[in-house]
Amino acid sequence: MRNDDKTDERKWWKHAVIYQIYPRSFADSNGDGIGDLQGIIEKLDYLETLGIDAIWLSPVCKSPQDDNGYDISDYRDIDPMFGTLADMEGLIREAEKHHIRIIMDLVLNHSSDEHYWFQEAKKSRENSYHDYYVWRDGVEGAYPNDMRAAFGGSAWEWVPEVQQYYFHQFSTKQPDLNWENPKLRQEIYDMINWWIEKGVGGFRLDVIDQIAKEPDQKITNNGPRLHEYLRELSKETFQKADLVTVGEAWGATTELAKLYSNPDNSELSMVFQFEHICLDQIEGKEKWDLAPLPFMKLKEVFRRWQMELYGKGWNSLFWNNHDLPRIVSRWGNDGQYRVESAKMLAILLHGLQGTPYIYQGEELGMTNVQYEIEDYRDIETLNLYQERLEKGYSKEEIMRSIYAKSRDNARTPMQWNDGENAGFTKGTPWLKINPNYKEIHAEGQIGDENSIFSCYQKLIWLRKEYPVFVDGDFRMLLENDENVFAYTRTNTDSRLLVICNFYDTTVSYSLEEDVSDMELLVSNYQDADQTGVLRPYEARMYWKQKDRE
Ligand code: GLC
Ligand code: CA
Repeated sequence: MRNDDKTDERKWWKHAVIYQIYPRSFADSNGDGIGDLQGIIEKLDYLETLGIDAIWLSPVCKSPQDDNGYDISDYRDIDPMFGTLADMEGLIREAEKHHIRIIMDLVLNHSSDEHYWFQEAKKSRENSYHDYYVWRDGVEGAYPNDMRAAFGGSAWEWVPEVQQYYFHQFSTKQPDLNWENPKLRQEIYDMINWWIEKGVGGFRLDVIDQIAKEPDQKITNNGPRLHEYLRELSKETFQKADLVTVGEAWGATTELAKLYSNPDNSELSMVFQFEHICLDQIEGKEKWDLAPLPFMKLKEVFRRWQMELYGKGWNSLFWNNHDLPRIVSRWGNDGQYRVESAKMLAILLHGLQGTPYIYQGEELGMTNVQYEIEDYRDIETLNLYQERLEKGYSKEEIMRSIYAKSRDNARTPMQWNDGENAGFTKGTPWLKINPNYKEIHAEGQIGDENSIFSCYQKLIWLRKEYPVFVDGDFRMLLENDENVFAYTRTNTDSRLLVICNFYDTTVSYSLEEDVSDMELLVSNYQDADQTGVLRPYEARMYWKQKDRE
């Protein structure tokens, strides 16, 4: 790539808005209670109406579903629960007709223990697949070290056949792959190229910053060889086609993100970083240990990421995914101001520089749930419940954490209409439907110009119409204001101004910026006045052409 392409804003994914589908919860076509590929195909019209450019599809490959598909037993086949390889090819083809690309989820840090590689690997130390995984000698009962797995328990599991422990950062059914082995790496590249040939538009890379682990030094993410591996991976696969690639990197800082998303295309297009997501997590504690949401910190984090990556990298913009609670229940207000706050959060995020991601149901303002423990399905939630009970936490306290943070908050089935099972399935849904589906559903919002859906639709459209969304520089306004988040985006010929009230009270503010000659592009109150006052969760986005001399 030539040097002058460094700030190339023509890349399709810089203009794109990506929609994440969690397939088992999106749309069920055959009544078994689990969403599937045909179900997605049936909803392509809906997605085209929304206006998105690509779907990030959470894993659909063959899997025993210990971690809902993030435990893959065959990277080149589709799980029968979701359909067949032909259905997948059909989805890629049909989506293209709707101008939508399909982004696959690559789980490369670990496989399922039911993958052929692992089945072989555990037979003997001499087996040619043994070195595809991370083993340490030891004696049964004495772990190589005290590292813990993300879903609870030790990160080491004993295999009597080989008299060794294997390393797993997630569940015992998700053994970590050994990236130090060039044969394993080549095997992965071949598999990715096979998917590229099938016409996918890109990849999301699961916990990619954990592949270069060094368990002897207790290093999980950002291992010493991480960027070496990524550059090789990119060269051998992604660089051969016009793809978008986004790595999940919980440990990313702005400095690291500039490496990952270097405009020279040597690694990835961008990463998901979680600094703005982890603000209510106390250092050294778990996400379940609840803490207040610090608004000033949120402002600081967004400002820093916007400023630091400008011209040197690329941001991903997201509030939600399948692992996170619903944003309207978190930074917004899922009661009285649900509609206003959901729109405010959308307006704030979509005005920033980067590629926005919408997680299914976010465009409807879907909310968190509060179920009985029996109704949860997520392995992380269920393990946490047991672990904390054993540690002596009260049931009430554990449930409070689960209500706030359980991954199942995001995984309840998509709410399509107010009919049986919210139109998600004709059978019994694998996870209970959020009881508020009578009120919150897609059918009630499409075509209603005041709906959350229409607000997202508008924001997606604006990003395509106004180049300043893609290339404008970022400047924070009212930096010390404790209620208002305001910023401008400016390029050579126009300026965008976004003002958002993050609270449920009316607040006043004063800006130097004169909005009287600006066009109001989008807002969340029908009669947006311009008096320096913002009503609860009020958000406004203005635009103006710059004067030319
Ligand atoms: C990522 C996924 C999450 C999964 C984990 C292990 O964080 O988003 O759902 O459980 O990786 O693959
Ligand atoms: Ca199904």
